[in-house]
Amino acid sequence: MPSPSNTDPRFSVRFEPSGTVQHSSDSLTLLEIARLADVAVYNTCNGVGVCGKCLVRVSGPVSEVTRTERRLLKPEQIEEGWRLACEARPLGPVTVEVPHSAPRQIVTGGVRTKFRLRPNLTKRAFRLPEPHLEDQLGDYERACRELGLKPDPALPLDVLKSLSHALRPEWAGTAIIDEGRLVGVEPGDTTAAFYGVAFDIGTTTIAGYLHNLWTGEELGVASGLNPQAAYGADVISRIQMAVEQDNGLRVLHTEVCNCINRMVRDLAAEAGVDKSGILCAPRGWTSTPRAACS
Ligand code: FES
Repeated sequence: MPSPSNTDPRFSVRFEPSGTVQHSSDSLTLLEIARLADVAVYNTCNGVGVCGKCLVRVSGPVSEVTRTERRLLKPEQIEEGWRLACEARPLGPVTVEVPHSAPRQIVTGGVRTKFRLRPNLTKRAFRLPEPHLEDQLGDYERACRELGLKPDPALPLDVLKSLSHALRPEWAGTAIIDEGRLVGVEPGDTTAAFYGVAFDIGTTTIAGYLHNLWTGEELGVASGLNPQAAYGADVISRIQMAVEQDNGLRVLHTEVCNCINRMVRDLAAEAGVDKSGILCAPRGWTSTPRAACS
């Protein structure tokens, strides 16, 4: 992926209809510049120059029409200013019209079946007696004893470090338990805030669901286009990108994680719940999850 620092104000590219402006250089194609600007240009070959789908209409100084464009575009299209975004490069300030793709309807509902709600995690409020000379165990061992759990020698250090702050001065907290292992303690009684999110990540769209993990109640649904589509509409193009480009896998991973993080934020805001109460999330979500749903 091109570096965002590779920009020059002389080559300002304005994308319409969003109005987004990105400074660039003549070494980048309009498709690469669109990605820097977070503007999605539909295509199915990820800039390889074979699909002919990355059509944009350019006004302003731009590079010569290439042989690939002559092969993939009709002469009337070229005359009207249509170009392939993966071939054309700006030679000065340009305006790029990105055609609207047809509005998509994202299916987020369907037939529901009955199921037993069995999240990996659970929460339990507990209280500890204050330590005294006859009971000199550490906070973690005393918490495990109180909760009837086996201490885990592989307990992550950050959990151990947070424990003493969470318990003092009230000596009361809420344990987060992952299949019999204490994986976190929150100060006070936070048992009411127990939520999980699940995502359906499709090639074209992503749908997210926020649920109350005590009752199973659905608290919100969010959906949007999968931002990986900017790197190829089909899975094969994206696999090719992940295999052939140095940071291809990282770029695709970051795109989907950023999208999920945005959805989590929106779902929590719409449902009026604190994001810190969302304890089950897919692996890779970077905000606060303490554990992942399997
Ligand atoms: S021809 Fe496929 S992205 Fe341009």
